[in-house]
Amino acid sequence: YQNADGDIELTEGVRSLVSEADRIYIVACGTSYNAGLVGKDILERIAGIPTEVHISSEFGYNMPLLSERPLFVFLSQSGETADSRAVLVEVKKRGHKALTMTNVPGSTLSREANETMLLHAGPEIAVASTKAYTAQIAVLAILAYDIVRANGKELPFELMPELARVATIMDSVMSQKELFEDLAERYLKTTPNTFFIGRGLDASVCLEGALKVKEISYIQAEGYPGGELKHGSIALIEDGTPVIALISQPKTNLNIRSNVKEVVARGANACIISMQGVEHEDDEFILPHVEPLLAPLVTVLPVQLMAYYAALARGCDVDKPRNLAKSVTVE
Ligand code: M6R
Repeated sequence: YQNADGDIELTEGVRSLVSEADRIYIVACGTSYNAGLVGKDILERIAGIPTEVHISSEFGYNMPLLSERPLFVFLSQSGETADSRAVLVEVKKRGHKALTMTNVPGSTLSREANETMLLHAGPEIAVASTKAYTAQIAVLAILAYDIVRANGKELPFELMPELARVATIMDSVMSQKELFEDLAERYLKTTPNTFFIGRGLDASVCLEGALKVKEISYIQAEGYPGGELKHGSIALIEDGTPVIALISQPKTNLNIRSNVKEVVARGANACIISMQGVEHEDDEFILPHVEPLLAPLVTVLPVQLMAYYAALARGCDVDKPRNLAKSVTVE
């Protein structure tokens, strides 16, 4: 989907699917589902198209009332996930349209959908999905932008230069990866459990941080919206519980900081990862500023790296964690 000027433009096929739709249903599992949560915000806030995100294994058996002209977007790194395929088969039977976003050309979900957008993330070998997550978010942003452009509306910011800037920032975070080895050592090396807290888009990235930590370092981890803790889960905070807070969204900066104070008052060992514009000087790591809607592309790196180093520190196999397969081809 690159045009002759080197700019990104969707194919006519994808455009027509989207232009006919009155609502997007993103269907996915695991990390792809978590990327879908970010994509929902991007699609709604940039393109103004109502979007729902569903876990495939739930959606297949408990389908909600659908809008009149639904478009199903299947997010899947492998394109082979059986739970997602079961939904694709069902929605096609009902005559609905499907677009697959996948990293694997020719995969089942790609072949069986009406259209495909490839992630171009390069082969992802380790069981834990990492670069597919960021590629999915970038491709969903490209979709949102094209919808706005096709409707002749004004873009809130120029996407491609901002994505290029984000890529440079990602490189610079990766070049400081030893800092996250230190944070993993201090916060995660010996703990039996941990919380990742944030609000809005940061909360969605927290789900992904917790999934990465569970998957490769076997630490019981919860990703939680900061404001919801006091409705029950704060009971789990005790002396030394590591709480990793992601703070990139100006709208919720003050609220999440007061949630951090709440857990610290109950003994938590809080580690704040923030972004320029909402930072405090004693935050553990301050990321360079990016457009808040694209912040998940950058905030996910510290949590992925902390999960990675925690796994190494605990002697776990980061590439092949126990009980898991790269593609889940059974329902
Ligand atoms: O290939 P898919 O994106 O459809 O896979 C979905 C999940 O099985 C996958 O994201 C899984 O959660 C990863 N192991 C997470 O790191």
